[in-house]
Amino acid sequence: MYNNDKLLADFWGILNLTTDYLTTGIKQKHTSFKVLSDSLGQIAKEISLCSKCRLCETRTNTVPGKGSSSPSLMVIGEGPGAEEDRRGLPFVGKAGQYMDKWMDAIKLEREADLFITNIVKCRPPGNRDPLPDEMTACLPFLDRQIKLLSPDLILSVGRISSQVLAGSSDGIGKLRGRSYLYKGISLIPTYHPSGVLRNPDEYRKPVWEDLQRVRNFLAKKELT
Ligand code: URA
Repeated sequence: MYNNDKLLADFWGILNLTTDYLTTGIKQKHTSFKVLSDSLGQIAKEISLCSKCRLCETRTNTVPGKGSSSPSLMVIGEGPGAEEDRRGLPFVGKAGQYMDKWMDAIKLEREADLFITNIVKCRPPGNRDPLPDEMTACLPFLDRQIKLLSPDLILSVGRISSQVLAGSSDGIGKLRGRSYLYKGISLIPTYHPSGVLRNPDEYRKPVWEDLQRVRNFLAKKELT
């Protein structure tokens, strides 16, 4: 039989256990909920507020990236140009319009099949190359985007993004034609559309070969 003292001790014991559960258990659940709830919108918001490098001082808009939330192909360039900075959208200038033609040729649509973004999300002034510390500061945003989107394939366009993602200092002429893995995802490097626009005789043919590899990979899920 319970006497009054034992009853009171049990009551306080249960109350303490409940308090422990509410303060630690729920806090832990809340923490893991925060991690699980990462989203493209959350990443874009953090990018819009970012001041981790000097590019925040000269940008008009941040350019987080745009496209499908379940893309078969993620296209990654180096950084926004003037038109992208003005509009806050990736690859909407001359190079981007030309790249749209590449995608038309292999029957991929921006909104349905692609997510397009860059290594750095703010424009390097005067279209200079992004500096190593700027890329290091920005790369965690790209990594979170890749983790969330889990594309079948990544196409890096241009020397800078291809070197960063392939983890190599080789020139783009060497990197293209080979395949890499970035965070476990197959990666095909190719030339930047603005380079091809400047020198179509030299670069159109290899880019076309690279686009065929993209198309074959997406059809068969194996690299050719
Ligand atoms: N060049 C890039 O690398 N990215 C853009 O978004 C536009 C031009």
